[in-house]
Amino acid sequence: MNGGHFHGAVIYTEIVTRLRDAGCVFAEDEAQLLISAARTAAELAAMVDQRAAGLPLEHVIGWAEFCGLRIEVDTGVFVPRKRTEFLARQGVALAWSGAVVVDLCCGSGALGTVLAAALERIELHAADIDPSAVKCARRNMAAAGGHVYEGDLYEALPIALQGRIDVLVANTPYVPTDVMGLLPPEARIHEARVALDGGKDGLDIQRRLAAAAPLWLAPGGHLLVEASERQAPQTVEIFASVGLIPRVARSDELDATVVIGTRPALQMTLENFTGHLL
Ligand SMILES: C[S@@+](CC[C@H](N)C(=O)[O-])C[C@H]1O[C@@H](n2cnc3c(N)ncnc32)[C@H](O)[C@@H]1O
Repeated sequence: MNGGHFHGAVIYTEIVTRLRDAGCVFAEDEAQLLISAARTAAELAAMVDQRAAGLPLEHVIGWAEFCGLRIEVDTGVFVPRKRTEFLARQGVALAWSGAVVVDLCCGSGALGTVLAAALERIELHAADIDPSAVKCARRNMAAAGGHVYEGDLYEALPIALQGRIDVLVANTPYVPTDVMGLLPPEARIHEARVALDGGKDGLDIQRRLAAAAPLWLAPGGHLLVEASERQAPQTVEIFASVGLIPRVARSDELDATVVIGTRPALQMTLENFTGHLL
């Protein structure tokens, strides 16, 4: 046996044991990722320490895999979840080459980046209230020519987008405040509260998002949000109450629920309706 390989195998086994003892369920896979991410032995040792102390793997290695893409995720920025790939796919299905796409509450910008990669030449805009997320999303969206703004929901967007958005994807924070304490420590400790806490019933941001959506969506444009299966009927009501046509898409495989609200393509006012009758 080659000495280098023997040495490598010992290190791998030590890392797996250390990660397993720290409670990592996928210790073997994680050990391999850490070994391939580290450039030096010292860096590897530091990364193993960070992971064993509970830092999310994606923050340790600096990226997450999302819909087959490598998305950079800085420390403190929300780690894109496997479940949210369903929202990304729903967005891709509703958009087209040349569409105006907005990713609000963009975090790392994972959703917008996937839409841009799947569809040729979209006009991509994104925004987040957290400056660290904005910095991270700017890097991820640079190749797609995405514009990333910092601010509170629509306030961050250029006014020129009003009435022009074809597809608006938003993975808003939707954890009810009193459930925050039950989240796994990786989320509770290492992700910003603003990325998770959705207020009393978890739907505060979705209400604000929906209220202004008819102003920002193009006729026939779509707003897509992720919700828990339990919250979905309420999100449907919220969307309907502002005049969006709601529907729910569900993936049992990913345990993912997406609520889609479509701005009617033709809005007949009472005036032109009666004019029609005369
Ligand atoms: C659940 S994370 C989703 C991040 C990303 N879209 C994803 O799926 O990986 C929610 C994001 O919303 C942002 N956020 C929370 N409140 C916001 C607000 N009022 N305006 C804009 N962004 C907000 C947070 O900073 C966080 O990055």
